Amino acid sequence: MAQTDYIVIKAKEDGVNVIGLTRGNDTKFHHTEKLDRGEVMIAQFTEHTSAMKIRGKADVHIASGIVTSEGKE
Ligand code: TRP
Repeated sequence: MAQTDYIVIKAKEDGVNVIGLTRGNDTKFHHTEKLDRGEVMIAQFTEHTSAMKIRGKADVHIASGIVTSEGKE
């Protein structure tokens, strides 16, 4: 598969989950990564991963800018 941009997720609280969802007919969780405050994950979309769900408070750096996900209060 062609090289895709990296996305960078920086956790702003403990226990942020980065969840990879499968590509294809079924869209299912296939991987969950737990990040604690200050930890960074660098990831790509791949032939196996079509979407990512970020649960918890984090900065998500993508080509179009920075999106901030919020934790539940
Ligand atoms: N094995 C997965 C893949 O190649 C690894 C992966 C890539 C991943 N990007 C991800 C896991 C994003 C979670 C979130 O697709």
